[in-house]
Amino acid sequence: MKFFIDTAIVDAIRAAHRLGVVAGVTTNPSLMAKAGQDPKKVIQEIASFVDGPISAEVLAEDADGMVREGREWAKVAPQVTVKVPLTAEGLAATRVLADEGIKVNVTLIFNASQALLAARAGAAFVSPFIGRLDDIGANGSELVRTIATIFKEHHIATEIIAASIRRPLDITEAALAGAHIATVPYKVLLAALEHPLTKAGIERFAEDWRQVTQKTK
Ligand code: E4P
Repeated sequence: MKFFIDTAIVDAIRAAHRLGVVAGVTTNPSLMAKAGQDPKKVIQEIASFVDGPISAEVLAEDADGMVREGREWAKVAPQVTVKVPLTAEGLAATRVLADEGIKVNVTLIFNASQALLAARAGAAFVSPFIGRLDDIGANGSELVRTIATIFKEHHIATEIIAASIRRPLDITEAALAGAHIATVPYKVLLAALEHPLTKAGIERFAEDWRQVTQKTK
């Protein structure tokens, strides 16, 4: 499973990218609003240092409008993946964009049939939302597992992005469930790499080293 970073805050993306683990970026209109910058400039800036797919979302509700916005996003940088919501219009737009060679990430997936439909419409990625399902008492990682099983059984190449990740445990569960990618907020990425025993171990090694080097000086 690869890591994408789920934010539109360029400084956070740069910091995560520096760790050497970021294979792509996902944004959405809410994340753009939090970043508070011109969305097109944000995507351009991210594309200046991230080689992998960068998702930028369309806002139109009709397929023609989504296709128009998707074509505009695709012109911003070759890494741009157009994010389209899972609606009937979204599926129609996905088919048109995919046939033009533009990669589509179908978002707001909450059941397996939605994921299968998105894949058959030509989506390069599907984004099931783990956290939002868990929020309403459903099981987000079970959905990822079901989609992964269906895609494997039917030889579907569409990649599964586990989205709406809230905690480090969601990352582990997404990996076990067969997600190809987890898109993770920067805060959760940092939380995932920390462990009190790692910190304590470093302190202990430093102290032992200090003592031995002092004695043998
Ligand atoms: C990513 O593609 C999604 O837009 C994002 O993970 C949604 O996360 P949220 O449910 O925490 O808003």
